[in-house]
Amino acid sequence: SKSPVRVAVTGAAGQIGYALLFRIASGEMLGKDQPVILQLLEIPDEKAQNALKGVIMELDDCAFPLVAGIVATGDPEVAFKDADYALLVGARPRGPGMERKDLLSANAQIFTAQGKALNKVASRNVKVLVVGNPANTNAYIAMKSAPDLPAKNFTAMLRLDHNRAASQIAAKTGKPVDAIEKLAVWGNHSPTMYADYRFATIGGQSVKQLINDDVWNKDTFLPTVGKRGAAIIAARGLSSAASAANAAIDHMRDWALGTNGKWVTMGVPSNGEYGIPKDVIFGYPVTTENGEYKIVEGLDIDSFSQERIDFTLKELLEEQDGVKHLL
Ligand code: NAI
Repeated sequence: SKSPVRVAVTGAAGQIGYALLFRIASGEMLGKDQPVILQLLEIPDEKAQNALKGVIMELDDCAFPLVAGIVATGDPEVAFKDADYALLVGARPRGPGMERKDLLSANAQIFTAQGKALNKVASRNVKVLVVGNPANTNAYIAMKSAPDLPAKNFTAMLRLDHNRAASQIAAKTGKPVDAIEKLAVWGNHSPTMYADYRFATIGGQSVKQLINDDVWNKDTFLPTVGKRGAAIIAARGLSSAASAANAAIDHMRDWALGTNGKWVTMGVPSNGEYGIPKDVIFGYPVTTENGEYKIVEGLDIDSFSQERIDFTLKELLEEQDGVKHLL
C-alpha cells in the first residue's frame, strides 16, 4: 500500500474548508488508495483554533480509512512541514469600507509569510493551489516569496470559472456536461476572466456551431459566468463554498493524477505564452500528465478574444503593481 502524503490546508475552519476537508479525507482528491496526513492551519486566535478543533472532531468521527494523521496549528511552518500539497484557502475577506488596495496589502502580508514558510519547510515538489482571493495575485506573491521552490509549483484556482462555464454550455446545448472538451478560461479569477468556447467540442461537434449565437456569448454567457460569484452571494448571503471546494478538488486531482489529454483551466505562471509577461499567474487551458501541467499552445486568438485577454491582463498587472513594494 502507498505511504501517506502530507496535505496542508489553510483557512481550514472556514466555509470552503468545511466543504473541502471531508472530500480530501475520503480520497476524492488523490485517489481511494492514497493515505493522507492533514496539516491544518488557522489564524492563532482562540475562536478560530476552537472552531478548527470542532472540525477535527468531525473528521475523527467519520473514521476515514485514508486519514493517517491530523495536525492542527496556527503556525505556517508547522502546517507546511514536508507538505506535498498545499491548498491556500484562508485569506483576508474585504471588510466594510475596505478599499481594494487595503485588501491587496492585507493579503500580501499573509501570502508573503506563507510563501516564505513553504520555501523553508515544504517538500521541494510541493504542489500549491491558491484559492483565497485575489487568488492569482496571492499565488504570485507566494511564488515570489519562495525563491528556492520552482515557480511552476504555484498555481491559482480558475477551475470554478471553468466549471461554471461548462455548466452554462451544457444547459444551453442540452448536452451532458462531461462531454464538453477543449474549454478554456483565460486570465484573472475575477469578473474580467474570459471564458472561451471557440475551440470546445461536444461529441466531436463544435460548441460554437451548436450554439451559433454570438450575442448570447457576449450578452448572456460571459456576464453570467463572470458575475456568478456575486449572484451566489446575493442569493445565499454567503460566498460560494461547496462549488469552490469542488473546484479545488478537481484542480488538485487533475494536476496529481492527469487529465488524459482533456483540457482543464489552471492559473499558472506564464513563460510568455500568448504574450503574457513572464511570471504573471494567468488562467490558461492546460493538459496534465505525470504530475506536470502543460499549457495548450498555438491557439488562434481573434480580435474579440485578444481584447478580452488584454483586459483581464491589465487588471492583473494593476494588482501586481499594487503589491510590488511589499515583495
Ligand atoms: P471564510 O471566511 O469562511 O474562511 C476563511 C478562513 O480562513 C477563516 O476561518 C479564517 O480564520 C482563515 N484565515 C484567514 N487568514 C488566515 C491565515 N493567514 N492563515 C490561516 N487561515 C486564515 O471564507 P471562505 O468562504 O472559506 O473563502 C476563503 C477564500 O476563498 C476567500 O478569500 C474567498 O474569496 C476565496 N474564494 C475563491 C474562489 C476561487 O474560485 N478562487 C471561489 C470562492 C471563494
